[in-house]
Amino acid sequence: MKKILVLYYTQTGQLKQIVDSVMAPLVGGFQVTYEELKPVPPFPFPWNGMPFFQAFPESVKEIPCGMESLQVDPEEHFDLVILAYQVWYLSPSIPVSSFLQSPEARKILGGRPVITLLGVRNMWIMAQERVKARIAEAGGRLVGNIVLADPAPNLTSVITIVRWMMKGEKGAFRKFGLRFPEAGVPAAFIEKASVYGDIIKDSLVKGSFDDLQNKLVSAGAVKVDPVLTNIEKRGKMMFGIWAKMILKKGGYNDPKRERRLKFFKYYLFAVIYLVSPFAAIIFRLIYFINNQAAAKIVKKYSNGMESASWRVESL
Ligand SMILES: Cc1cc2nc3c(=O)[nH]c(=O)nc-3n(C[C@H](O)[C@H](O)[C@H](O)COP(=O)(O)O)c2cc1C
Repeated sequence: MKKILVLYYTQTGQLKQIVDSVMAPLVGGFQVTYEELKPVPPFPFPWNGMPFFQAFPESVKEIPCGMESLQVDPEEHFDLVILAYQVWYLSPSIPVSSFLQSPEARKILGGRPVITLLGVRNMWIMAQERVKARIAEAGGRLVGNIVLADPAPNLTSVITIVRWMMKGEKGAFRKFGLRFPEAGVPAAFIEKASVYGDIIKDSLVKGSFDDLQNKLVSAGAVKVDPVLTNIEKRGKMMFGIWAKMILKKGGYNDPKRERRLKFFKYYLFAVIYLVSPFAAIIFRLIYFINNQAAAKIVKKYSNGMESASWRVESL
């Protein structure tokens, strides 16, 4: 019986629901081992304000946190590794980047086919470039990528996710006479994700992952928006500068860096609400005129399995 290892971290449980849906067609026919990545101490949820921003510099600079030892034996052979993760500040979440930098990751990923499975708001491409580089560095071979995202308009999903992350309130609500949808990945998307499991199953049975990503993309497993991609790229660059500036004042949870984190908070919301709508209009116009450039971005980030421009040491 072929063996699959599923590594995941989740705060709200959303990613575990996604994992369960994707894995549904695979359990029974394959030996599946689940390994939950556990940071020590755990990150708070709900985040309640400042702790949410405290996680910013370490997310962006991929500074590892303490982690509980893994239950799985890193030397055990698996035919496929599925790495399920979420994005924090356009970067892999701290627990996941901590795992990727651990010596165990080299043993687990080295020489193995790897599929990444993401549950995010809507900005994941820069994080995935980093994860691609880390998997390659560990000697793994990325063979597939599946992304479940919040389909709400960008500014709407910022409001709903901030409420969810800060207060733990996920449901739809009304404010200022406006209706806001439920935060996160819709239940219908999660349910439908089992079709990706069927596609993975075919590849495992055939013993070849060569065409896996094309099939996943055809089934709707990855949607790339070139406009958001461009906003993300610029955001990632600015986040790097801010993270460096904040880290000069101290490490994780150091009160000395709170003033800079507050400035960053104002900067972040100003950029999201005042700058990004104009940037989105400009980029949309550019891609309307030059739709070949848009198609190139979509192809590169939905089908491309190789790390493009980011090298591991580039932070
Ligand atoms: C600190 C923090 C930063 C986040 N930043 C992003 C982001 O840059 N892009 C994105 O698409 N989602 C972002 N999210 C949403 C997460 O990717 C994820 O969807 C959400 O936290 C629920 O995941 P979980 O329950 O599996 O942990 C962020 C969440 C947190 C807590």
